[in-house]
Amino acid sequence: MTQSTLNQLEQQDEFIGRHIGPDAEQTQAMLDTLGVSSVEDLIAKTVPAGIRKQDALDLKDAISEQDALAELRGIAQRNKIYRTFIGMGYHDTFTPNVILRNVLENPGWYTAYTPYQPEIAQGRLEGLLNFQQMVTDLTGMELANASMLDEGTAAAEAMTLCKRQVKRNKSNVFFVDEDCHPQTIAVVKTRAEHFGFEIVVGNPESLPEELFGALLQYPASTGKVRDLTDIIADAHGKNALVTVATDLMSLVALKAPGEMGADVVVGCNQRFGIPMGFGGPHAGFFAFREAYKRSAPGRIIGVSIDTKGKQALRMAMQTREQHIRREKANSNICTSQVLLAVMSAFYACYHGPKGLRNIASRIQRLADIFARGVQESGFELAHDSWFDTVTVNVGDQQSAIYERALAAEINLRKVGEDKLGVSFHETAKLHDVSDILDAFKGASHGLDLQMLDTEIAAKGPMGIPHALQRTSDFLTHPVFNSYHSETEMLRYLKRLESRDIALNHSMIPLGSCTMKLNATAEMIPVTWPEFGRLHPFAPAGQTEGYQALFESLQQMLEACTGYDAVSLQPNAGSQGEYAGLVAIKKYFESRGEQRNICLIPASAHGTNPASAMMVGMKVVVTACDNMGNVDIDDLKAKVAEHGENIAALMVTYPSTHGVFEEGITEICDLIHSVGGQVYIDGANMNALVGVAAPGKFGGDVSHLNLHKTFCIPHGGGGPGMGPIGVGEHLKPFLPAHPVTPVPGTDMANGTISAAGWGSASILPISWMYIRMMGKTGMKQATEMAMVNANYVAKKLSEHYKVLYTGKNGFVAHECLIDLRPLKETSGVTEEDIAKRLMDFGFHSPTMSFPVAGTLMIEPTESESKEELDRFIETMAIIRNEIAEVEAGNYPAEDNPLHNAPHTLDDVMSDEWSHAYSRDVAGRPASWLKHHKVWPSVNRIDNVYGDRNLICSCPSIEEYME
Ligand SMILES: Cc1ncc(COP(=O)(O)O)c(C=O)c1O
Repeated sequence: MTQSTLNQLEQQDEFIGRHIGPDAEQTQAMLDTLGVSSVEDLIAKTVPAGIRKQDALDLKDAISEQDALAELRGIAQRNKIYRTFIGMGYHDTFTPNVILRNVLENPGWYTAYTPYQPEIAQGRLEGLLNFQQMVTDLTGMELANASMLDEGTAAAEAMTLCKRQVKRNKSNVFFVDEDCHPQTIAVVKTRAEHFGFEIVVGNPESLPEELFGALLQYPASTGKVRDLTDIIADAHGKNALVTVATDLMSLVALKAPGEMGADVVVGCNQRFGIPMGFGGPHAGFFAFREAYKRSAPGRIIGVSIDTKGKQALRMAMQTREQHIRREKANSNICTSQVLLAVMSAFYACYHGPKGLRNIASRIQRLADIFARGVQESGFELAHDSWFDTVTVNVGDQQSAIYERALAAEINLRKVGEDKLGVSFHETAKLHDVSDILDAFKGASHGLDLQMLDTEIAAKGPMGIPHALQRTSDFLTHPVFNSYHSETEMLRYLKRLESRDIALNHSMIPLGSCTMKLNATAEMIPVTWPEFGRLHPFAPAGQTEGYQALFESLQQMLEACTGYDAVSLQPNAGSQGEYAGLVAIKKYFESRGEQRNICLIPASAHGTNPASAMMVGMKVVVTACDNMGNVDIDDLKAKVAEHGENIAALMVTYPSTHGVFEEGITEICDLIHSVGGQVYIDGANMNALVGVAAPGKFGGDVSHLNLHKTFCIPHGGGGPGMGPIGVGEHLKPFLPAHPVTPVPGTDMANGTISAAGWGSASILPISWMYIRMMGKTGMKQATEMAMVNANYVAKKLSEHYKVLYTGKNGFVAHECLIDLRPLKETSGVTEEDIAKRLMDFGFHSPTMSFPVAGTLMIEPTESESKEELDRFIETMAIIRNEIAEVEAGNYPAEDNPLHNAPHTLDDVMSDEWSHAYSRDVAGRPASWLKHHKVWPSVNRIDNVYGDRNLICSCPSIEEYME
């Protein structure tokens, strides 16, 4: 008998079978159910022939997990980790190991979805509430949201909030402190350009006579700490609002901006235990006065009650969000930075106010010792105040000192032509101060630093003016004062984790979200120090590994999409949309064309119109026909009406209705015929990779949600990445960066994210995925996503109406089931079904998007047939329960659906007066006897929470109740 060759035994493509759930036998069984002869047959009957890709993906062959990790390690090692004192919003930090292993490296936390189903998300909601409390306490503000994408975009969002809030002030001027971080200024300027605001950058001591808002940095980017009270009062006197960009660690020691009258306070949580990661992901924060709560961007977590009156958390005031208000939304932000937000809140819990004071004092002491030392070495300081950042006038010695530091593997910040900045951080030590002083002196500094320390300790802090020292308490809530031992912290983290359903428990069939496997091998490199400890503004010679990773990933994504170039800057899909529309706008400007209409089908995701509004385009909604497709006649009419005013059509493909529209080429041609550009929203790329390429069938630009198709986990609502692919003609208009030049870009294009390559440190996840799957695996993943979706659709069609299918009766990679008829016959709503699914240990599919009264199911290729069958069986049981309601066997107000979800308290209570048994309530399917995640609260009352808005931590006693 012939034995396998060594090559075969090495199983280089083994990962493909690990990523894809169904094996050959299961696949065959599903194909039989579908009545197709093969996977190819299904694809041929599903994807329009005209767009189907004929050739193989231009990717390498698959390699094993071990080999891919070794190859990536080789790339990572080309990054050099120097001691870095650049500051500018990024600082080295220690991630407490208990948080590293149990949150950042733990699928229980990182594979969860945005907490739209709060009854099975109380753990991360509590983490986010802690984050909000931490931010409001430290900033001295009334409310904070549950994270932004980064500090730059938070500042840009603050500018638009200021404009919304001062309606009677007709000024178009937004003032920006010249000593803000340069990347923040660049992001704000880009946003302002497209909103038509005028940016005045200058010294905040002399604000313009007319302005609608101002952005100040505290402490300033080069370190100065000034009292902002008078400046803020001056702005208020001019009917303008003031945003203060700040640094959380400094606020441990400094008077809070809220105490100086700030209206909005923004910043980034990075130095609270989040690796620098060459720029991200980190959580931006956004704190504000309560009066602006309806105008604030992003998600806010609030306290409400459940049907039993128990305290419960959920996302508050969803009505403000882009998915409801579309082009009238406050912002386009959707995915934010939940995982990083909760990590920083846990960092604050673990250290507590006392621990944080200690860390901040240590940082401050190092800065003080350095300041004294450098003065004694004959240099002058640029400012007479500082917290952690000391800027030194060095005249013509700038290069010499900088190079000497570099030779000692130390990075300093060049400020202008004649200054150097040094920012101290949590991991810095006295010997670092000594080495830096040597670099300044050009010889051994000869100072007794221990003695300087003793002197400063005796006199008190040097850099913070007395009036600006913090006197108010912070983090007094029990949650920040209870978990300082590792045992307590570990148990707290586990307690929260156990309240949530994530992919480590069961499939999460959320349509449009692609909750697929986030493989361990993909996640491992994220916490390698070679990726984690790099400052985004480290000199290029130290970041070769990252550059190689970017280049390689860009090529991979170009191959997957058929586009000519990829920008890795946007750090979420929403930002990709914005970057893509900016590129389109710039392209037209370069041709002297003035177009401002953006056509968007009614079925589009809310971020599409919200993004179009942000680039100053007018949204014209086009209709969908009764099959869920773009209504081509209506589109033709709109094209005829708006003709050469059409800048773009934004269309999702395959559609948000879960079908491959046959007319896509005609649609693209129609837009191109009047010179418009086609933006194909790439959220559904999981149905395209290897099968059809948007860059080839008519798209000019697409964003890719790397946190969907390309395996970055959702983190409970972020991080994500939203790079864009573009055609050759849009390549000159990709976003640039003011500090780290992005090859081939021009600063006139603007800056979308605070860091040049967005959330760089999670890009290894997508790289690993593509490398391990290779050219055949990537295509197979797409095909199996469609097999799984069609299998689910077919089986569910025995119980529910599948709303839309393509011309041969097949769906793409997701399907919509219509629950409206059942509501009519039984009164049972889609929400009842979503909550009842929790009793079976499942997260609901996407509810009421894109069609009200429906559920959108996307199983992904990673789920095995067993798991799909479990879900299908659940839906069948639920359908029977609905039938019992329809038949009058269950009262409308007392049935398992109406009362769902059921908690352990419910089924253990001494009293049971329902029309169904405890078993039906709590263990309605056989597998639940083996394992079940119990919802920790009953159904939550959203309206109560919005009427009684509380967005801070309740007391610990209340949690215990
Ligand atoms: C179709 C579609 N477009 C855009 C987005 C926005 O992407 P992100 O959440 O990454 O900003 C989503 C997010 O769910 C989406 O489903």
